[in-house]
Amino acid sequence: MGIRLWTNPSAEAARAAPAPAAVGPDIAATTDTAAARERASTEAAVAVALAPAPAPVPSAGAAAPARPAAPVRPASAPPSRPAPSNPARAATPAPASEPAQPALSDAELAERAATIATLAWAPLREAVAACTACGLCESRKQTVFGVGHPQAEWMIVGEAPGEQEDIAGEPFVGQAGKLLDQMLRALGLSRTDEPSTGREVRADARGVGDRPVDAEGDPARRVFIANTLKCRPPRNRNPEPDELARCEPFLRRQVELVRPRVILLMGRYAVKTLLKSDEAIGRLRGRLHRYEGIPVIVTYHPAYLLRNLPDKAKAWEDLCFAAATMAALRDKA
Ligand code: URA
Repeated sequence: MGIRLWTNPSAEAARAAPAPAAVGPDIAATTDTAAARERASTEAAVAVALAPAPAPVPSAGAAAPARPAAPVRPASAPPSRPAPSNPARAATPAPASEPAQPALSDAELAERAATIATLAWAPLREAVAACTACGLCESRKQTVFGVGHPQAEWMIVGEAPGEQEDIAGEPFVGQAGKLLDQMLRALGLSRTDEPSTGREVRADARGVGDRPVDAEGDPARRVFIANTLKCRPPRNRNPEPDELARCEPFLRRQVELVRPRVILLMGRYAVKTLLKSDEAIGRLRGRLHRYEGIPVIVTYHPAYLLRNLPDKAKAWEDLCFAAATMAALRDKA
């Protein structure tokens, strides 16, 4: 694959949307030598990176007994809390105050995680929609569960809904989302349904147990896009540690049920939550990480790329690395 530089989706890309599964000339510039160099280094990295993984840590869900839903905790008294705005998403005016939530004890967090770990896809979606585990439920318009094929071979994990996602109930629908869609298209991937192939989806084989409405098309060409937080932080401030902790079981369960072959983490909160790392994206990219045994590739958040255009080339390298990792996994299967 060559070096590809996405143009700003708000301008050129909007004018000439590339065909699905193909890279339009408006978003790609390719050089053969760069391609050869890149291929060689990617193949080497993949060969090293696909060495046998350490045994996956058993998930909380594996042994968790069925339990009633976690208790709903009403938001407590609302002292105001400093809310630094997040440059990854456009900010909106601040409300007068923001409800705070007392931290859950370790035991309470574990119990909540164990409950969520038992849920099938539809109940999980319902649990997210009904969640009041942190103060974000007070200010959200709606929860943002995620979008895409529930058995997609690719999973993308972003940060948190912004204003437009909060309104639409779907992740990455703003400018960053347009760029993400272009990046996916460059890999021949899509978040949306393709015409049905008539193929049996693998929902039952994967033990999901229910048949989600979005399970159409080829899971190999589909992604499931989820956020680390399912609710928008007010004014797009950074997520609080306690909010991340309370929301993490939802994402963990989504990964367990989707069982993607490759996960792409976009941005530092996705990294913090799934890899438990505070290292800079720049230091984590270019290496293969693992989450519950699943290969994980770290890259820049699309919103960051919109503000740091030169780093799009690095993001393209990351996508090439991800594609090579996927190809190697398929070869091994
Ligand atoms: N940024 C994210 O990380 N997720 C969204 O859904 C929108 C913007």
